Amino acid sequence: MMNAAAQALDEKVGKVPVAQGSTRPATSETEVMRAITWQGKKTISLDKVPKPVITHPKDVIVKVTACTICSGSDSHVYAGEVPDTSKGQIMGHEGCGVVSEVGEAVTKFKAGDRVVIAFDIACGECDYCKRGEFTGCDTTNDSKLSEFVYGHRHSGIFGYGNLLGGVPGSQAEFVRVPFADVNCYKIPDEVPDEKALYLSDVLCTSYHAVMLAGGVKAGESVAIWGLGPIGLCAARWCQIMGASKVVGIDFVKERLEVAEKKLGITVIDRNSVKDVPKRIFELVPGGVDASIEAAGFRFPVSILHKVERTVGLETDTADILNELLLATRKWGRVSVIADYLGYCNHFGIGMLMMKHLTLRSGQCPCQRYFDTVMDHVKSGKFDPSFMVTHRIKLEDAPEAYSKLFNKEDGYIKVFIEM
Ligand SMILES: NC(=O)c1ccc[n+]([C@@H]2O[C@H](COP(=O)([O-])OP(=O)(O)OC[C@H]3O[C@@H](n4cnc5c(N)ncnc54)[C@H](O)[C@@H]3O)[C@@H](O)[C@H]2O)c1
Ligand SMILES: [Zn+2]
Ligand SMILES: [Zn+2]
Repeated sequence: MMNAAAQALDEKVGKVPVAQGSTRPATSETEVMRAITWQGKKTISLDKVPKPVITHPKDVIVKVTACTICSGSDSHVYAGEVPDTSKGQIMGHEGCGVVSEVGEAVTKFKAGDRVVIAFDIACGECDYCKRGEFTGCDTTNDSKLSEFVYGHRHSGIFGYGNLLGGVPGSQAEFVRVPFADVNCYKIPDEVPDEKALYLSDVLCTSYHAVMLAGGVKAGESVAIWGLGPIGLCAARWCQIMGASKVVGIDFVKERLEVAEKKLGITVIDRNSVKDVPKRIFELVPGGVDASIEAAGFRFPVSILHKVERTVGLETDTADILNELLLATRKWGRVSVIADYLGYCNHFGIGMLMMKHLTLRSGQCPCQRYFDTVMDHVKSGKFDPSFMVTHRIKLEDAPEAYSKLFNKEDGYIKVFIEM
């Protein structure tokens, strides 16, 4: 029976159009597989669930050979901060594997092909997809809540709450990929899973972070808040593009160490530096050309925002955003790649205007960057191994979720070998 909230949404939003075969699929009645599922706030478990089956001619089924946990985005679900997530949701939006079954309308792939899967699910046919705005795909997410809250629906995303389609994810032995010709990318033979896996999100997303900052030109300076996988990889892209100074900010010792020792960027440790913009002005007089927010909505710095979030006066914090606005030079660029879901108070809109800043944000359309990023990985120009701290099995994933959430034991990126 429909609950009152669902009924109210139905009345307000009505029917939302989705492409056939885009969202929750049918599953096998006889075959089961192992998968990591969400069971409630901070509860993740290894379960036996029905295996996915082909439900649409454009689907493929991929036998997952490697997957990983997105320490930022999966943590939002883990923490119970993504509204409308169903108990039993199969987690994971970063995976690669071997095509095991192919729908009859798939043209680019055959059984046995090694592929990496984009975290965002695009149909390839709607106006957004045709413009390469894949994360705006209008037909792969049936969330009425998204339609109601944002006035639009984001594309579907694997392994996330119903707000993003509730599509079963890739922390599982098998995953169904809708519109496989658009959402799978063939892995060259010479590129091992250990390097190809990260194209499904972090490598493309960090590249997108730099693109949102208007790209980085030779000789420019960039500051990056958050040295998780996204911030670290964004720093690497800035180096590749010729930045003369990259400053990374965090308070997790092991992450600061990777940034300083493995990448060789300048770091600011929040444990000892209280005024981050002031320190940036000391390092780069006048402020940085571009800044990237790679931390996230749930990390308030000030007491004011801690209180406001706790009592529900805001869902997201503007603390970090305001530091970016302050530390960027006049006419500079600000990129928000970190997730923000709701609303925040005290956003420094005056700084944005009076300093002539450009602010861009959004989820990464991986499909747009696959060729460029794979060229860098294949040639060895970008080796993602520097951020991988743990190699684990699927059964170790629940513990890894907790370690990543709490930033314990040096966890940065895990490679889950199936
Ligand atoms: N836009 C996209 O397409 C996309 C894709 C993937 C991830 N994301 C988001 O990007 C963000 C980063 O992802 P990640 O996997 O690297 O996450 P992560 O949680 O591993 O890293 C975030 C880092 O920010 C640090 N941090 C917290 N507060 C800070 C502060 N005030 N100043 C400086 N650093 C601070 C944390 O200590 C942590 O190391 C997350 O919000 C994630 O959800 C966005
Ligand atoms: Zn992610
Ligand atoms: Zn589309």
